[in-house]
Amino acid sequence: MDPLIEAMEGVVEDLYGHVHRVSSVAVEVGREMGLDQADIDRLTIVGVLHDVGKIHVDPAILAKPGPLIGDELLDMRKHPEFGFAMTVDRFDRAVSEAILYHHERFDGAGYPLGLKGEEIPLLARIVLVADAFDAITSHRAYQPAMPADYAIAEITTNAGSQFDPTVVEAFLSVVERGALLPPGPSGIGLAAR
Ligand SMILES: [Fe+2]
Repeated sequence: MDPLIEAMEGVVEDLYGHVHRVSSVAVEVGREMGLDQADIDRLTIVGVLHDVGKIHVDPAILAKPGPLIGDELLDMRKHPEFGFAMTVDRFDRAVSEAILYHHERFDGAGYPLGLKGEEIPLLARIVLVADAFDAITSHRAYQPAMPADYAIAEITTNAGSQFDPTVVEAFLSVVERGALLPPGPSGIGLAAR
């Protein structure tokens, strides 16, 4: 196992389930969008390692039930940059950039840079949707698990604001052909914030 993944095991509960479901959804969406095998392979890695930077975030912040405020939020929002720094010398740059930008929003209201639309690398736009789907359908310290239909509706509603509409369209095609993995167990995970 990659040492980076091993390092994450202590930080994110249900890590194995979460990261592999994110990878699986991201890969299905990437295939639906006609990406080549090199990008599909990158999506597999980014799905697994997108939150690796959380090993440098205070565990008390990671596990906090309820909203993050002030410095807690600032600390949490450093994890994409930590993840970039941890992966840039190990994988090709498209992988580490997708990790860096996996919380950017299509409307420019995301972090760390507030990139907008197609300024955000496509692989990051895909992982954002996959991560959101798994976060909504899994139990979190700050929210109960919701049904897949609820997550699909949320993602559809936020196409064009949080999510790239083209990626959402591909995601909905994946849903229609029944290619999503079932939601994970009720372990508390820490994705998507
Ligand atoms: Fe993240």
